[in-house]
Amino acid sequence: MTAPVLEIRDLAVEFKTDTGLTRALRNVNFDVPRGEVTAIVGESGSGKSVTANCIMRLIQPPGRITGGSIRFAPTASQAFDIAALEDKDERLLDLRGGHISMVFQEPMTALSPVHNIGGQVAEAILCHREVSKEQAWAEAAQMLAHVGIGDIERRMTMYPFEFSGGMRQRVVIAMALVCNPEVLICDEPTTALDVTIQAEILTLIRNLQDELKNSVIFITHDLGVVAQIADHVVVMYQGRVLEIGTVRQVLKQPVHPYTKGLLKAIPGVVDPGERLATIASVVGDADITTPFPLIKLSDGRQVSLPRGHVPAELKP
Ligand SMILES: Nc1ncnc2c1ncn2[C@@H]1O[C@H](COP(=O)(O)OP(=O)(O)O)[C@@H](O)[C@H]1O
Ligand SMILES: [Mg+2]
Repeated sequence: MTAPVLEIRDLAVEFKTDTGLTRALRNVNFDVPRGEVTAIVGESGSGKSVTANCIMRLIQPPGRITGGSIRFAPTASQAFDIAALEDKDERLLDLRGGHISMVFQEPMTALSPVHNIGGQVAEAILCHREVSKEQAWAEAAQMLAHVGIGDIERRMTMYPFEFSGGMRQRVVIAMALVCNPEVLICDEPTTALDVTIQAEILTLIRNLQDELKNSVIFITHDLGVVAQIADHVVVMYQGRVLEIGTVRQVLKQPVHPYTKGLLKAIPGVVDPGERLATIASVVGDADITTPFPLIKLSDGRQVSLPRGHVPAELKP
C-alpha cells in the first residue's frame, strides 16, 4: 500500500454573506488513494465543489479556509500542506494545472472562445514546460488524438464554438492531461452533456486513468455514475462527510442512513423529478443533521454515526 496522494484533515470553509456566515465545510476528512478513482458524491450544495476548490486553492473571498490541512504527497518531491501555502508561494503555480488539474462541468469555462483549439492545448503545455512552440503543437496534436478527436490537423485550427459539447469536453480533458498531473479533479464533467455523450466521456476518463495511473477525484451527484467510474466513494451532506468506503461497500452495503437514501433515489426507484429532494424524507433527520465524528469500522470503511447505530458485524 502506497501512501495516499492527498490526506484531507478537519478541513473547514466559511463564506461571509449578507445574511451571515455559511459553514460550507465542517471537519471534512478523507484520503485520496494514489493511482485510483475516488468519487465525491452528494446533493447540490453539499460542498463537493468547495472541497475541490480547496485542493486547487481556488477559494476566493467571501470564502475562506478557516481550518484543517490538505497534505499533498507528490511522487517526486516533498509532501506539503496545500491549505497552509501563502498566496504568493511558487508551489501554487506548479500545483494548478501542473501537479493537479481540474475539469469543470461546463467546458466553455476552461476554453477561450477567441483562440483556436490547437493553440489552447499547446498553451497549456507551454505554461508548465520549457519546450518550443512547434514541439508544444505536436504534443497537443498527439494528446487530442489520444482523447478521441479525429481529423486533427483541421480541427486544431477550429474554434470552440465549432465543436459539440462532448468534443469540447474532450479538448478540456486533453488540456488537463498534457502536463501529466498526479491528480485529476473532474467536477461533474458530464452533467451538461447528453446521456449517450455522458457515457462516452465517462469511458474516456476511466480508460485514460487505467492507462496513465493518475489519481482521480470524480465529483458527481449521481450514484449511477459512481458505480461506473469509482474505486472509492466519499459521501457528503451539508458540508460534512457521512461515509467513506470502497465502491462495493458503499453501493452494496451502505451503513449510513443517508447513503441508503441516496441509493433509493437512483432513477427508476423514485420518480426522476423527485430524485434528490426525497432523500431527507426517507432517512431519519437526526442521523443526518447531527454531526458525529467518523468512526472506522472493522471492514475499513468510515462512517459518521454513533457507535450504537453500527451493524454488529461491522463493529470496530
Ligand atoms: N461563492 C459563494 N458564496 C457563498 N456561499 C457559497 C459560495 N460557494 C459555495 N457556497 C456555500 O457552500 C455550499 C457548498 O457549495 P458547493 O461546494 O458549490 O456545492 P456542490 O456540492 O453542489 O458542489 C453552498 O451550499 C453554499 O452554502
Ligand atoms: Mg458543484
